[in-house]
Amino acid sequence: MFNVAIIGASGYTGLELVKILLNHKKFNITYIANSTGEVLINELHPCLESVISTNVEKANAKEIAACASLAFLALPHKTSMGFAKELISLGVKVVDLSADYRLELDTYEKHYCEHEDKANLPQSVYGLPEYYKNDIQNASLVANPGCYPTASLLALLPFIPYIDENSPVFIDAKSGVSGAGKKLSESTHFCNINENIFAYNPFKHRHMPEIEEKVRLLENKELAINFVPHLINVTRGMLVSVYATLKDDVDVEKILEDAYKNSPFVRVRKEPVNIKATAGTNFCDIFVAKNKKALFINSSIDNLLRGASSQAVCNANLMCGFDENEGIPILAYVP
Ligand SMILES: NC(=O)c1ccc[n+]([C@@H]2O[C@H](COP(=O)([O-])OP(=O)(O)OC[C@H]3O[C@@H](n4cnc5c(N)ncnc54)[C@H](OP(=O)(O)O)[C@@H]3O)[C@@H](O)[C@H]2O)c1
Repeated sequence: MFNVAIIGASGYTGLELVKILLNHKKFNITYIANSTGEVLINELHPCLESVISTNVEKANAKEIAACASLAFLALPHKTSMGFAKELISLGVKVVDLSADYRLELDTYEKHYCEHEDKANLPQSVYGLPEYYKNDIQNASLVANPGCYPTASLLALLPFIPYIDENSPVFIDAKSGVSGAGKKLSESTHFCNINENIFAYNPFKHRHMPEIEEKVRLLENKELAINFVPHLINVTRGMLVSVYATLKDDVDVEKILEDAYKNSPFVRVRKEPVNIKATAGTNFCDIFVAKNKKALFINSSIDNLLRGASSQAVCNANLMCGFDENEGIPILAYVP
């Protein structure tokens, strides 16, 4: 057994980590924390009553290092790097679910804030297993991708060599409300989101530079992405529709199938995808179609799982030399 800590266990992705790790055969939860401590995990999450009643601590890096070899940081950006910096210096492996280690320094500081751990940033590995598996296996610090970038990059990357760079690439993305975390805001208030759907931050969302940067690093292409996220009135789930133009008449189904033939958590679909089939799982479902040179790629994930916590456990499996599939949820919440 490998001892692990979950920091931010009172939040949405923290709860998903607790749920996955409770059934994991090789990871043992030895430390659970939030910002205050002095509470039981089943008091924070009544759904865990009669399941687990561990003490929740006020997060402390030295205490984590004394009882765990790997820590999951399910924390807001900026807060995360404070903990990661200390944990790495104490020899603890880190999977960070925030944006703090996902981007190159300039991009991070332009879109977030001043980086407070410039020393460790260059050694962080982007935790998208389909594209960075070997690096993740050797990493001590993994930056779990954002939920929108996970669904968008898995859809877009196989087609980058075939896309006409002179025509705009649009990513139309829709997320369930849990993507915003547990804190209530005016836009996520029931009266605003119930029976409603709306775009937010068109062309300005922070996940747009994350998608552009990974396309550049993986495919050596400066592709301008037009990213428009929407909020939809479901609790969990994310649907991405990519619209682009092909350079030539290519077999798009074959390109997609070839790209993911060895990827256990990408399912190539024959029909447009939906969010129910991936809710509760680590799968990313992808469908592709073309109309002459018009390209449509459609992907779906569970924002809390493939977009956060199950992908984080997948990364931890790889970092610790375990099978990538170990303990990873694959059964959808259907019906
Ligand atoms: N939600 C998603 O679908 C999703 C997807 C991908 C990535 N992410 C990223 O994952 C991270 C967590 O997201 P979330 O949705 O789970 O957020 P959340 O529901 O708002 O939870 C945030 C957690 O961070 C804890 N926290 C904040 N400041 C802390 C501190 N100083 N010390 C210890 N704990 C502290 C909170 O504890 P308290 O309860 O004590 O405040 C809470 O447990 C964020 O960076 C988010 O961007 C989220």
